[in-house]
Amino acid sequence: MRTIASIAGVAALLPRAAMADETVWSSVAYIMYGDRLPLQGNPYPALTPLGANQLYSQGSIFRARYIDNSTVGNDTAAVTDYLPIVDIEPKAIDNTQLSILSTNEQYVISGALAFMQGLYPPKNQSFAAGAGGIGAAQLANASTALDFPLDGYQYPRVQSFSVQDPSSTWIEGNAPCSQYLESVFGMPHEAAIQQTYQDSLDFYQTLWNRFFKVAFPSSMANYYYAYELYDYALYHFNHDSHVPRTIDTATLAQLQNYAYMQQIAKNGNLTVSGGAANDMIRAVAGRMLAGKVVAQLQGALASGAASGKLNLMFGSFETFLSFFALAGLAEGPSGAVFRSLPRQGAAMVFELYSTSGNRTAPPPADPDDSSLHVRFLYRPSADEGEAFAAHPIFGNGNMQTSMRLRDFVAAMGAVSIGSVAEWCGVCGSVNIFCSGLVPSQGGGGGSSSPFGLSGAVGPVMAGVIGALVALAVVGLAAMGAFFVGRVRCYRARPQQQQQQQQQPQGRPTQSGGKNLGGFKGPEKNASDVDVAVSRSGVRHERMGSWELRSGSEIPGGAAPRVGAAGAGAAVGASSLERGVTEVNYRHEDDDDDAMSELHMAPVKPRETV
Ligand SMILES: *[C@@H]1O[C@H](CO)[C@@H](O)[C@H](O)[C@H]1NC(C)=O
Ligand SMILES: *[C@@H]1O[C@H](CO)[C@@H](O)[C@H](O)[C@H]1NC(C)=O
Ligand SMILES: *[C@@H]1O[C@H](CO)[C@@H](O)[C@H](O)[C@H]1NC(C)=O
Ligand SMILES: *[C@@H]1O[C@H](CO)[C@@H](O)[C@H](O)[C@H]1NC(C)=O
Ligand SMILES: *[C@@H]1O[C@H](CO)[C@@H](O)[C@H](O)[C@H]1NC(C)=O
Ligand SMILES: *[C@@H]1O[C@H](CO)[C@@H](O)[C@H](O)[C@H]1NC(C)=O
Repeated sequence: MRTIASIAGVAALLPRAAMADETVWSSVAYIMYGDRLPLQGNPYPALTPLGANQLYSQGSIFRARYIDNSTVGNDTAAVTDYLPIVDIEPKAIDNTQLSILSTNEQYVISGALAFMQGLYPPKNQSFAAGAGGIGAAQLANASTALDFPLDGYQYPRVQSFSVQDPSSTWIEGNAPCSQYLESVFGMPHEAAIQQTYQDSLDFYQTLWNRFFKVAFPSSMANYYYAYELYDYALYHFNHDSHVPRTIDTATLAQLQNYAYMQQIAKNGNLTVSGGAANDMIRAVAGRMLAGKVVAQLQGALASGAASGKLNLMFGSFETFLSFFALAGLAEGPSGAVFRSLPRQGAAMVFELYSTSGNRTAPPPADPDDSSLHVRFLYRPSADEGEAFAAHPIFGNGNMQTSMRLRDFVAAMGAVSIGSVAEWCGVCGSVNIFCSGLVPSQGGGGGSSSPFGLSGAVGPVMAGVIGALVALAVVGLAAMGAFFVGRVRCYRARPQQQQQQQQQPQGRPTQSGGKNLGGFKGPEKNASDVDVAVSRSGVRHERMGSWELRSGSEIPGGAAPRVGAAGAGAAVGASSLERGVTEVNYRHEDDDDDAMSELHMAPVKPRETV
């Protein structure tokens, strides 16, 4: 990862010395997932140990900033100022003080847990007052308090939302947004995109011969798949010692640059509109994030900063890029930091503090109070030594890294979407949860009330919605699977395919790892006595492999996940319940890909429901 860091050439910005009278009441952070298996070839890309370490390390930095800088190493503490949030539990998690939201992918949820392990490491004999304190740890028949398992492991409440849940729109507002998808699917017709496609075609085709052809058909070796190709190259660059000879750092940087260009066009082009003029449809994820950030800071203030002390959201790079665009970060004084994809474990932070200098008095109740300020911070990677630096947003000058809360709310309000109902209007969305809400006029920014959460759905309604969604998704996924399944049924790796077929089920595969791009999967060599590889890990690899995606049976595999093309069929079978679960899974994975594959015909769910 050190090499990757140097590629991006990000200037090291030292943390600014904290002012003694600053009191932090609440912080909202959006955090990028860590290293995972590449999307290409893995229908269920898993978080890797490297990814878990990245998130763990990022969590430790947050601990050093907001909770306690004495229990982390000096190196870690040097990366950030120490600005402890008032009355946050120092050792044991009090889940009433925190909000932890995640998208529904395993690599995001597990990364959130790894982050929390860094934020609150295990600690014997530590019990949060808000969680029952030591009383809850005592047993009637024993004199000492009972520890949590694993030397005092701390259990966070991580809420994850699938795209069928209205709450998911706050953290990945682009994913289920029909207008966004339509806009993105039209991109291959745009002149600038076509130009870059032409300019980069030789580069990609040459690399295809040298590297990508083990996993991609040549028809995918072009700019339209810039993100998938970079994602795949990055994984193998980090994990396969043979790869850096084929893909050197300069080549990887070029792949990253094209991926950035593609993704910023998809998520950060503010001049493109969807259903209404000036609705900034491509940046819908950032517009939702802006609404959520303001709502969370407001919620914390409304509770006298008793709850919402630390609000964490875990998701993907699209939300970063679209917020960067909305906040004018790429054009601002720190522009160079923001003109690239956020790296694994990156974090952006909105920090609410007052300058009244009294930590024992409650924060001002009035959001317009002149002592309340918000600061934007960005840590572009989880790499050691990467500083937690403040940056001006919304066109502020170089030195102005903080804004009055009132001004911040106004600036965010001008770009934000303030409710799920409004999101439904902007997205023209067919999501079933939208039918229970009254869409607003949609469109233009500025009209929304960022504090209003008028789109909140009651539990009963949510139940009804859930049932309807389950039915609707069957139809959508069957159709989506057609588009995505077609692309994924390709495999150009006969040797490994053969090899896998010869492996007895459940036994670790053995291979020299000499094949550059292939999926070594959880291999185990005879010499690796200390490496434990679970059976299910092996089976998963087999299920994710290409031949199974083209429809073959899984011999003796428990609960086989059908290939994309078969997903629809499974639903018709006896167990609707199981079929729906399968399809939901597929559907979410498909979203990920659907959005990064520009060539696909527009999916118009509206017409299929
Ligand atoms: C960390 O810094 C403090 C103060 O500078 C010093 O006393 C302590 O020994 C350092 N700890 C380590 C592990 O280097
Ligand atoms: C922790 O923060 C305090 C206050 O800013 C600072 O004096 C101290 O050096 C920090 N500790 C470490 C280990 O950096
Ligand atoms: C003490 O009480 C707990 C909970 O009721 C029980 O699980 C445990 O076996 C008891 N220990 C002894 C030594 O009786
Ligand atoms: C935590 O408590 C357990 C059980 O009492 C003990 O075995 C373990 O050594 C303790 N761990 C630490 C780090 O103190
Ligand atoms: C945004 O997209 C439009 C339409 O394709 C294009 O004309 C414009 O140049 C793009 N803007 C940027 C900043 O790329
Ligand atoms: C801080 O606020 C508390 C509670 O309002 C008050 O009792 C205390 O005197 C204040 N301290 C200072 C230094 O203003």
